[in-house]
Amino acid sequence: MNDSRGANRVQDGPLPIVILISGRGSNLQAIIDKTANGELPVDIRAVISSRPDATGLAHARQAGLETRVIDHTTYEDRETFDQALQTCIDSYRPGLVVLAGFMRILSPGFVNHYRGHMLNIHPSLLPDFPGLNTHQRVIDAGSREHGASVHFVTEDTDGGPVVLQARVAVRADDTANTLAAKVLEQEHRLYPQAIHWFAEGRIFLDENGRIHLDGNLLEHPETLSEDTSAPC
Ligand code: GAR
Repeated sequence: MNDSRGANRVQDGPLPIVILISGRGSNLQAIIDKTANGELPVDIRAVISSRPDATGLAHARQAGLETRVIDHTTYEDRETFDQALQTCIDSYRPGLVVLAGFMRILSPGFVNHYRGHMLNIHPSLLPDFPGLNTHQRVIDAGSREHGASVHFVTEDTDGGPVVLQARVAVRADDTANTLAAKVLEQEHRLYPQAIHWFAEGRIFLDENGRIHLDGNLLEHPETLSEDTSAPC
């Protein structure tokens, strides 16, 4: 894999990235938009979908990006699928793999191959509410606060070290749908910010699984508040 990574990254142009999706692709669109208007120094080499019917593929094509489909239903098992996916990703020589609504559990070999070079966004304040249906689960738990997290991907599904979070208040009249909309709005600010940090070599994951930001150990995830703009 391309060695343009984190603190070791040579600042020689936009960071090559590959984005993985499975569905709607609104986070993909946010990344495309920030890249197009010059706010995000990345080169989106390809968008790969695990589903042929992912609507996000249309966003990618509209933006003139290369798209590939690796349909998980046509593979015998997880390992075979992951191997095909890895071969496809590596053919684009990315410095970062961006999971944007990619709804597949990944095998340990795959995850380790991209260790420190793969980010995911998850709709909760990790480590709370890993897994699915986070918005309804937050309401059912009576939580007053919810949000989204960007984390490095490790073997522990939704459990890798968290870089950046955005928080939203849970109101008494919130439903899973209203919460999902509020959180998604934050996701679209959050993910480009974390990718930007990586592209500039400001964050990296060390061999002990700890994140460094601007040369300092990140003891707790950074937070984007609901109202203020991104720290930079
Ligand atoms: C986003 O809310 C993202 O956080 C979530 O899927 C949605 C994808 O939306 N990801 C996960 O739940 C991963 N565990 P999008 O396709 O519109 O970007």
